[in-house]
Amino acid sequence: MSGEAPVSDLSAEAAGREVADLRAEIERLNRAYYQEDAPEVSDAEYDAKFRRLQELESAFPDLDSLDSPTKRVGAAPAAGFAKVTHSVPMLSLANAFSEEDLAEFFARVRRFLGLGAEDPVEVTAEPKIDGLSASLRYENGRFVQGATRGDGAVGEDVTRNLATLDDIPDRIDGAPEVLEVRGEVYMSRADFAALNARQEEKGEKIFANPRNAAAGSLRQKDASITKSRPLRFFAYSWGEVSAPLSGTHFGVLERFGAFGFTINPETRVVRSVTEAMDFYREIMARRAALDYDIDGIVYKVNRLDWQGRLGMVSRAPRWAIAHKFPAEKAQTILKAVTIQVGRTGALTPVAELEPITVGGVVVSRATLHNADEIERKDIHVGDLVTIQRAGDVIPQVVEAVRTPTSEPARFAFPDHCPECGSQAIREPGEAVTRCTGGLICPAQAVERLKHFVSRDAFDIEGFGGRSIEAFFRDGTIASPADIFTMEERDAVALAPLAKREGWGRTSASNLFGAIRDRRTIPLDRFVYALGIRQVGQATAKLLARNYGTLAELRAAMDRARDENSEDYAQLLNIDQVGKVMAADIIGFFAEDHNSDLLDRLAGLLDIEPYAAPAAVSSNVSGKTVVFTGTLEKMTRSEAKSRAEALGAKVAGSVSKKTDFVVVGADAGSKAKKAEELGVATLTEDEWLEMTQS
Ligand code: IVH
Repeated sequence: MSGEAPVSDLSAEAAGREVADLRAEIERLNRAYYQEDAPEVSDAEYDAKFRRLQELESAFPDLDSLDSPTKRVGAAPAAGFAKVTHSVPMLSLANAFSEEDLAEFFARVRRFLGLGAEDPVEVTAEPKIDGLSASLRYENGRFVQGATRGDGAVGEDVTRNLATLDDIPDRIDGAPEVLEVRGEVYMSRADFAALNARQEEKGEKIFANPRNAAAGSLRQKDASITKSRPLRFFAYSWGEVSAPLSGTHFGVLERFGAFGFTINPETRVVRSVTEAMDFYREIMARRAALDYDIDGIVYKVNRLDWQGRLGMVSRAPRWAIAHKFPAEKAQTILKAVTIQVGRTGALTPVAELEPITVGGVVVSRATLHNADEIERKDIHVGDLVTIQRAGDVIPQVVEAVRTPTSEPARFAFPDHCPECGSQAIREPGEAVTRCTGGLICPAQAVERLKHFVSRDAFDIEGFGGRSIEAFFRDGTIASPADIFTMEERDAVALAPLAKREGWGRTSASNLFGAIRDRRTIPLDRFVYALGIRQVGQATAKLLARNYGTLAELRAAMDRARDENSEDYAQLLNIDQVGKVMAADIIGFFAEDHNSDLLDRLAGLLDIEPYAAPAAVSSNVSGKTVVFTGTLEKMTRSEAKSRAEALGAKVAGSVSKKTDFVVVGADAGSKAKKAEELGVATLTEDEWLEMTQS
């Protein structure tokens, strides 16, 4: 702010006065903003005062105090709520985009359960509400805790906010001792329009769409603001329940209705793909007339015993699917094409657009995928382009038409990396053009670091993309390991973080605290964080499960460089790992600089060996099982997923490392091999007996 003396020129006394004034003023502004919903100054002005106070507090540590408003607000909003670990994870849904996808869902369910073509499969069909999900915990009929979904495992405690919703009863009668009701918090379109009109009148933030308005209204530090916002809730699922409520999904929804929750009135039970598609078309036709935004239909297998058997894959249940409505489209002018360099060096062309609203969201950038797509769609800068956006997916350019302002030539895809100047090449048969700069490419390094700290990886709170970029630029962090030596180096640095622009004592110590919190990390997250090409969360988990510890994973990948080795065969045996992926994984561990990085990280971190999930006490956890022949009591997929749920590893072929081979009818060479190698064989019944608790 202008007119302020540089902090270094102030006497302790003058600083003391200014600190006291600023604290009083910020407290007052906080009250106006949070409690009276009537901010007195712009965000920028508030931020400037806040930063000045932080600066003073760090320059004059004697003046620092835990009572200061800098210790309470102003941090990233996510830091403002306590964390809640969901007793049962909040899952997401797999998507279907066509009738074929939906038919495949029904077919998959049938195959998995081993049903005959005649056996009907009932599913509930309900609109997919475009809001945010929440979990409501009732103990002895009283609402005791409400949480957002968060990352599915850990959400935010928004109990007081949720308690203000009319659709959420405080007490319910006749419920089991523990009941977690889950569903969607949303805002109706009419309420959204009225809220925005009020906001505009007050000169306040306008929300882009009902979903943002619902999320912004729920995640308020001051629950009285939430109360003033017209939020609603549809119940559609549940978490922990101490006693079953019904044998069917629909039955549970009816119970929820009786407890006083609102169930979406469109909910139906359908019995075939045809009926499901009829429902889908009917709702799509009425979509615009509904008073809330929906983006598809959710189907859930109705029988709960079947749901239990179907279980889940990755983070989505096998017994449910979301059939999405087609994407919304709009047209705008393509102003420029820029090139983004990802962590694996992939160059992605990005359309820079004249901003336009698509399905209620302002879009100013869209992906153009790769060089082929630019050619196929014949993209010229200056074209009128059609943009399509579906749900949370990155908007895409679907089509381009020339305009008088279009450039005469098609956009030329670069043959050099725009970030480091290295050659960019495209391997034969690949769609992606990659920067060959590897370690010298700053863009790749920064993207790798961002991935490393991201939510599903190390999840370092408050460590955003911008800080990573700044730390990389000024040399504080060049490699992921540097993150964990930062605090130590900072203590003896000439320009400690707390003194740097945009930082203060509090924010610096918060960051160091967040980093310290993550020194212990489960192996699967660690592997995912490494950003090995093609290795997403699911594969990282499989690798962790199969090798147990980082040391064993590294040793096995080293041995697997020999394609004739047992270890190579074992790697390929892991579900979803094919030869190309295996080459990427082995290649990653074979590189010297990655080895060095892993050595450093292993010295700085406590990487927890993989712990088999929940039912660990089972007598097959950690054991390797092979199923062969035709099973009678369940399908191969069900047997496999059950075994995995009990902590066993399921392999496709028999080796010395196999613990059991479960032999069904008409088993062939695998049973023979087991015998040759002296591996224990079991009948299906013996296996069931062994695994039934
Ligand atoms: S069921 C295990 N039903 O969609 C089942 N989800 O893409 C979990 N959603 O996180 C969800 N309407 O926020 C379900 N009728 C509905 C839904 C619904 C909206 C949201 C929910 C979930 C997301 C998954």
